[in-house]
Amino acid sequence: MFERIDHIGVAVTDLESAISLLSATFGMPVVHREVVESQGVEAVLLDIGESHVELLAPLSDDTPVGRFLARSGPGLHHVAYAVVDIDAELARLSGEGVRLIDKTSRIGLRGSRVAFLHPAACGGVLTELVQEAAH
Ligand code: CO
Repeated sequence: MFERIDHIGVAVTDLESAISLLSATFGMPVVHREVVESQGVEAVLLDIGESHVELLAPLSDDTPVGRFLARSGPGLHHVAYAVVDIDAELARLSGEGVRLIDKTSRIGLRGSRVAFLHPAACGGVLTELVQEAAH
């Protein structure tokens, strides 16, 4: 089962101005910043209640987020839901015929485990599952 919205992912071309808008103007504290070479992005997490906004800036044009920006411009990229057991959830969804991008989970920000579901299976919304790292 999906527990709550963990974060929304927003693709940006200018990371510093996006951080300034969300932190200085909207009042959302920056809680994490990480370059994820394997995904070709620099990601910044800002807190909003129990959820986050995840800003995604591509490391180059030839990355998934770089190609997204070229195709669609800056804006909403994905919605991520928190789950308790991501591998069990992927198996359950696969069994129900939901098309997965990631058949198995992989390491995400802050030691979390993440996996993406195909937007065609999710009403046109790129959908991510997140299992938080054990504290
Ligand atoms: Co995400």
